[in-house]
Amino acid sequence: MGEQPVRKKQSRKGALKTPVSSAAADFVARIPAGEIAHSLLEWFKPEARPMPWRNPRPEGTPLSDYAYGIWISESMLQQTQVSTVIPYWTRWMEKWPRVASLAAASEEEVLLMWEGLGYYNRARNLLKAARKVMELHGGVFPTRHEELLELPGIGLYTAGAICSIAYNHPRAIVDGNVIRLLCRLFTLSFTQRPSELKPQDLIWQISESLVRAAAQIEHPQSCSAFNQAMMDMGATICTPSNPLCLTCPLSPHCKAYKEQSQSQYPQPLARPALILREDTALLVRDAENNILLQKRTDAGRNHGFWQLPLMENSPLPKAPEAFHPFGLSFTSQEPLARLQHHITCYRISLKVYPGKTDAGFSPDENLRFFSEKELGAIPVTSSHRKLLRKIL
Ligand code: ADE
Repeated sequence: MGEQPVRKKQSRKGALKTPVSSAAADFVARIPAGEIAHSLLEWFKPEARPMPWRNPRPEGTPLSDYAYGIWISESMLQQTQVSTVIPYWTRWMEKWPRVASLAAASEEEVLLMWEGLGYYNRARNLLKAARKVMELHGGVFPTRHEELLELPGIGLYTAGAICSIAYNHPRAIVDGNVIRLLCRLFTLSFTQRPSELKPQDLIWQISESLVRAAAQIEHPQSCSAFNQAMMDMGATICTPSNPLCLTCPLSPHCKAYKEQSQSQYPQPLARPALILREDTALLVRDAENNILLQKRTDAGRNHGFWQLPLMENSPLPKAPEAFHPFGLSFTSQEPLARLQHHITCYRISLKVYPGKTDAGFSPDENLRFFSEKELGAIPVTSSHRKLLRKIL
């Protein structure tokens, strides 16, 4: 493990402590952008990690379909590792190889396909955006940055990634990996989350200046390769701890390497405190051994997913009472299974107890029984999928 950085009190006023505004422009102008872009492109030639969406566009494949595949990969890669994404992306592209096929899918099918990747709004937004591409662009995936930004779920990072990777446009990208790499390269103190950064902030300006420099280099897809090289470099060489500076092609330019202060960049952001929560679920079966599930209808991240009937923040002894209005009761106070999981700022302890229906119970479209076989064909929240696997 590298030396842990000292946590300093952080100002949230600006994105970067050094430098700002016209000073930023001067700073960016002095970067040896051409040399950096050239070194990174040379490094990437033999070192690019193989990924199925990185294959060159097959002859005969319309650019729109190729860009669609890049968009799907970039959406899946947010918060998720490449090795996890590859099988999801492959299955997705087999089922929905172009925007029109995705636009015709149901939300339930899309959530099922996404199950296990988490952050389900990404999947819902893909569907909404595909339908919007049908409506506004006749099913042809847009090529312009501004048009991409109008689609649900596409922000500056994804628009920049699609424009550069699929269309080879000199568009900047900034994510956690790029921030770490650039902060070290130029010893910048960084105080904002990537999603809060704006194009006028220094990191975006540097990223843009580098990809523009890459565009000047003789190479069949220099902007595409350059941005992907930055991502791979951040993931494999300029790692959060123990960066592999001895094999880094940028070490001759790297200020942190020169100072041996790599472990101090980027400075960590303060994490919100975790709140403990105890949830209780019931496993209720009917005479045919089917299992009762409820559909989440709240506007939260798991909207549309099924789960065992659940009372959040309701441990024993108050849990049985909480289920009574729904015509459900406990048959034992001995849990069948338990699970610890994290959601945003919550650390949740979830227990499942055996239960039964009472006289007041009435099923409806959001509270119904499923056979064990049917469970595989509906989206189930990941914590409840794990619990069901433990129990069944
Ligand atoms: N992380 C997000 N997008 C990526 C990409 N295109 N290549 C490598 N890592 C990534």
